[in-house]
Amino acid sequence: MLPGAPHLARDAAGELRLEGHALAELGRRHGTPLYVYSRAAMLNALAAYQRALQGRRHLVCYAMKANSSLAVLQTFAQAGCGFDIVSGGELERVLAAGGSASRVVFSGVGKTRAEMRQALDAGVRCFNVESTGELERLSEVAVAAGRRAPVSLRVNPDVDAGTHPYISTGLKGNKFGIAHGEALAAYRRAASLPGLEVVGIDCHIGSQITQVEPYLDAAERVLDIVAAVEAAGIALQHIDFGGGLGITYTDETPPAADLLVRRLLERVDARGYGGREILFEPGRSLVGNAGVLLTEVQYLKPGDAKNFCIVDAAMNDLMRPAMYEAWMAIEPCALRAEPAATWDVVGPVCESGDWLGRDRRFAAAPGDMLAVLSAGAYGMAMASNYNTRPRAAELMLDGERVHVIRERETARELFARERLIG
Ligand code: LLP
Repeated sequence: MLPGAPHLARDAAGELRLEGHALAELGRRHGTPLYVYSRAAMLNALAAYQRALQGRRHLVCYAMKANSSLAVLQTFAQAGCGFDIVSGGELERVLAAGGSASRVVFSGVGKTRAEMRQALDAGVRCFNVESTGELERLSEVAVAAGRRAPVSLRVNPDVDAGTHPYISTGLKGNKFGIAHGEALAAYRRAASLPGLEVVGIDCHIGSQITQVEPYLDAAERVLDIVAAVEAAGIALQHIDFGGGLGITYTDETPPAADLLVRRLLERVDARGYGGREILFEPGRSLVGNAGVLLTEVQYLKPGDAKNFCIVDAAMNDLMRPAMYEAWMAIEPCALRAEPAATWDVVGPVCESGDWLGRDRRFAAAPGDMLAVLSAGAYGMAMASNYNTRPRAAELMLDGERVHVIRERETARELFARERLIG
C-alpha cells in the first residue's frame, strides 16, 4: 500500500492517481516541480483528532510550519482548527487565510518584542512561553501595550530518550521549554508579573514519533506539574500536548491519531483533569501524507559506481533528504514494461548533497514523471531559492476540482528587491 492511501493509489492501468486525478497529466499540464495536495486527505487526517476529542472542550491547533500555504490554512480554518505559529509572519498568514487570532497559540524560543506586540494587538489566544527571560519580556511588552498577555509555559518533560529514540525536543540538554524541575518556580514568577495571565501548560516532545508510550510518559510528567502548580494556587485552564505524531514514509507504523488521543485522554481522566480544555498542535500528521512532489526526469546517467536519474526538482524544493537524510518514497507516475534499474534520484543543484532518494529501483526514461510521496509536510514550507531557482507551483485537489493555490515563481521576482550599486 502506498503511503498516502487511500487518496493515493494506482489505477488498473498502473497510473498513479491522487483523489482520482492522474498525476502525470497534472505534472504535464501545470509544469514541474509541482506540489499536489488532496484536500480530502487533509480533512480526513484532522477528523481523526476531532473524533477522539468530540464531547470535550478542545482545540486542534494546526502547526502551520509544516505547510503554511494559504489554501492549506484556509482549509483547516474552515474545518474549525486553530493554529500553532512560530513567527509574526505566520500570524499574518493565518489572518490572510481567514483564520482567527483568538484560536492561535504562539510557540517558539525566540519571540522578538515586535512579534509579541503584533500578537498582542491581534489578540492571540495564548503565548507558549519557553523561558523565564521570555516571561519577563512579554510582561513588559504587555504592560507597555496596556494589556495582559495570556500565557502557557512550555515545559520540558525530560522523557527518556534511550527507549524512545525519535524524541529530540523533550529532553534536558536541548533549547526547548522550561526544565521540569524549574517549572513551578517559573509559574510562580509568571503569576506575579503584572502583564501576564497564566492560562495553561504545554509540551512538545519531538517530531515523527511512531509510538504512544513517549506521549504517555510525557503526559504523566506534565500532569505532575499541573498538580504542583494548582496546589500553589495557580489555576490552569488548558493542557496542550503539542504535536509530533509520525506518518508513514516507508514502513513506519505510527498509531492512528484517534487512538493516540484516546490513550492520552484516559490518562488525563484518570488523573482527574478530564474537565480541562485539551489542545494539540499536530503538523506533519495533518498534511504529510496528503501531498506529493511531482518532478520530470531530465537525464539518465548510468555509471560504474552509481546510476543517476537527474530530475527537475532539487534540494531547494524538498530539503528533507539533504538535510536529515530523510527517506521519502519515489514512484514513477506511470509504470514501464522495461526492467527496473537502481537509481540515485538527484536534482540540478550544484551540490553532492542534492539528492531526493538513493538506490531506488524503477524503470524510467527522460520525460517520465516521478512522484515523491509524503511530501505534504515540511516540503514547500522549507523550500528555498538556492541557485536562483523559482519555487514550485502548488495544486489543491478537491474532488473534481483542481485549484492552483500557488503560481510558480519567476526568476525576476526573486531579484526584484535587489539593487545595483550607484
Ligand atoms: N509544536 C511545536 C512547538 C513544534 O516545534 C512542532 C514542530 C510542532 C508542534 C509540530 O510537530 P509535527 O506534528 O509536525 O511533528 N522539519 C522537520 C520537522 C521539524 C519539526 C519542528 N517542530 C522535518 O522535516 O522532519
